[in-house]
Amino acid sequence: MKLRLFFGIPLPHRQAETIAAWRDSLALDGRPVPARNLHMTLAFLGQQPEDRLDELKRIAGRIKSEGFELTLDQVATSRRGLLSLSPAHPPGALLSLAAQLAEGLLAAGYTLDDRDFWPHVTLARHCPARHGLLPPDCTCRIDRFVLFQSLNEDRGTFYEPLSQWQLP
Ligand code: 2AM
Repeated sequence: MKLRLFFGIPLPHRQAETIAAWRDSLALDGRPVPARNLHMTLAFLGQQPEDRLDELKRIAGRIKSEGFELTLDQVATSRRGLLSLSPAHPPGALLSLAAQLAEGLLAAGYTLDDRDFWPHVTLARHCPARHGLLPPDCTCRIDRFVLFQSLNEDRGTFYEPLSQWQLP
């Protein structure tokens, strides 16, 4: 069986709720991402055979990275219609985490997005462009990353955590 997988950082519950409420207050057209799904993608794997899960967990388990403070202080609507929040100054530990993951995955033969890593949290899709939005006040401590399975169900999209790793 194949699973749609990605490594990511879930936003802590409190900040996810705050951001979702701020996003809703903008009353933009588009499809909002539910608060429970707010995350930053570190590496998108797409459809993968279930029997590669152990290998993925080994790759993630080898990563040496520390926890960090994440400040999401840039808001943008992209040409693809994404409303996103991103850090103006991505922490070194975040960039190192994403780079180590990409290196391990590429070495094991996975195909990754060949665009540069763009640390962002998607808040809504299919949004019209809007300029001059001011970001909410959002800083959070990130102390783990997660291997997620993306599930499309009748009730919506769910990101099921399959395994997680602490960032000390
Ligand atoms: P996005 O938020 O920028 O659209 C789960 O689908 C996560 O994986 C989303 O955060 C999404 O990023 C990302 N994702 C989906 N398809 C992708 C692709 N082809 N390349 C890179 N990331 C992708």
